[in-house]
Amino acid sequence: MTDTATLTSVSEPNEHGYRSFQLGGFTFDRDEHFVHIEWPTGRHVTPVEDFLKALMRDIAWNFFYGTVNFDSVIGTVNHYGNVDLFAGRFNDAYRKAELDHMENFDHDVIMGAFKDMLSDWTNDGFDPFAAPQETGSPYGVKHGDNEAAITRTRVTAQRMVGLPGDEKIRTDETHPINRMFADVDQSEPTIEVEPGYENDVASFNLFAYLSRSDVTWNPSIVSVCKESLYCPTTEEFILPIIHGNDRVEWFLQLSDEITWRVEDRETGAPRATVVMKAGDVAAMPADIRHQGYSSKRSMLLVWENGSAELPDLIATGQAPTVPVTW
Ligand SMILES: [Fe+2]
Repeated sequence: MTDTATLTSVSEPNEHGYRSFQLGGFTFDRDEHFVHIEWPTGRHVTPVEDFLKALMRDIAWNFFYGTVNFDSVIGTVNHYGNVDLFAGRFNDAYRKAELDHMENFDHDVIMGAFKDMLSDWTNDGFDPFAAPQETGSPYGVKHGDNEAAITRTRVTAQRMVGLPGDEKIRTDETHPINRMFADVDQSEPTIEVEPGYENDVASFNLFAYLSRSDVTWNPSIVSVCKESLYCPTTEEFILPIIHGNDRVEWFLQLSDEITWRVEDRETGAPRATVVMKAGDVAAMPADIRHQGYSSKRSMLLVWENGSAELPDLIATGQAPTVPVTW
């Protein structure tokens, strides 16, 4: 890895109307169909739809926990303050051929470049957050933009949905019920609070809340208890990134079904296929990467331990990669 790289630049629009971007030794270019990425030891081409959907998650999740693989070659590793941009780093064949490359960037430098790229390369009518049947096409020469869609941020409760200050996070006006969840009961539970505890006791209908999610594969945060974050989300089609964990991650399948492809985090070698039906619970280990497939829009509760100490504890063997050993 080189020292923190700061060199970034942007070109004038190419013959397709899109700007090219340089981040250290990496260059990113798009045409009507593809994104072309080059680095000192190699090059890569990927469909623009896949790339923009992955880029959208990496930005919206603030580089997330651990590794965000855009595909089997390109991605980022979050060091919480600075970020690695890599090509082939977690691909056994690239590693063995010594074609892999990685550079480290200050968080704000790479975030700024990624936001500029997403803004320039997203055309009018395409929403990289949306399910395939709920958006238009990303292809063709540059035409317009979609700033409203790409500047959405994840919905975050300060304490818990339903408590004072967090009550009205999703309403008919802001978040109508999704077509796939038209049958979800919208009634809210009744809570009779002892006087004096109105600020601390509340409840809400999580299924109704999730039925109003307007995006896919974008966890909201409905409760925060010290480092325990409940991050439910709605999923349809394919998770646009392959997430490499740096900690154990719990999945509770709340409705319908998701199939997870689980691979070794370092090499990409297949480890398991996990089919989760409504009610199933799984703990994804800290040394894997995973990508989900959801035929029908489904509801998933992702439970994260947000502790900043965990990645080091696991990397140095002081904490296990699985929550329990039998
Ligand atoms: Fe994960």
